[in-house]
Amino acid sequence: MREEPYIFEMSSYIRLGVNIDHVATLRNARGGVHPDPFTVAVACVKAGADGITIHLREDRRHIRDADAERICAEIAAPINLEMAATEEITAIACRLKPHGVCIVPERRAEITTEGGLDVVGGQAALAPLIARLNAAGIVVSLFVDPEPAQLRAAVAVGAAVVELHTGAYANGRPGELERLTAAAALTGEIGLECHAGHGLTYANVTPIAALPEVRELNIGHYLMGEALLVGLPETIRIMKGLMAEARK
Ligand code: PXP
Repeated sequence: MREEPYIFEMSSYIRLGVNIDHVATLRNARGGVHPDPFTVAVACVKAGADGITIHLREDRRHIRDADAERICAEIAAPINLEMAATEEITAIACRLKPHGVCIVPERRAEITTEGGLDVVGGQAALAPLIARLNAAGIVVSLFVDPEPAQLRAAVAVGAAVVELHTGAYANGRPGELERLTAAAALTGEIGLECHAGHGLTYANVTPIAALPEVRELNIGHYLMGEALLVGLPETIRIMKGLMAEARK
């Protein structure tokens, strides 16, 4: 078994990473500086977020280089940088040294990350890139569909973590919770740390947070929408409460 990346934590605790990409989307809609993703990241951490997730896309449609620079340098919580497996973003990650990266597939026309990464098909390209990130001291996660072959390939390419794609579950696809349950169990057997995310809400988070192998959830869109109604601190407090309740 590989050493746990987050050995200092109790295994029953489940972390909440708050994805703040949509704050940048809102700022960019007017081309100005408000709302500022950095300021919102500070507020999320103050409200109890265990980490901040940002996606520096190749097209820079939301988070920009200056946001990533400042957030990685100045936020006092682990930063999870979502990225495509490209030379450009790998070089940026190795320079900014976030706590972790999550490698995702990226297609320019998509609205959000649509499917999991094809680790099986992309092993040859992924392995050297992950080796570079690992050598820079960055914990590497791969965003994958809950398929055993993808998880085994994640081990083969040197990733320490997988983030299971919960989008199909969130969309109500039959059998998806069972697939996620089996995939989470497999991560424990093959020495991967298990995260999960995409499309999670107050209404659907409990069964995913209850999976004992899942150590972290990354949630963005729903939290930002709720925050418009009741504010960020209250939104994060409720989501963290649901997650903690699910672990009991
Ligand atoms: N995890 C990954 C890898 C993602 O790409 C996203 C979307 O940016 C999320 C989690 C968060 O998804 P949502 O915004 O639907 O909560």
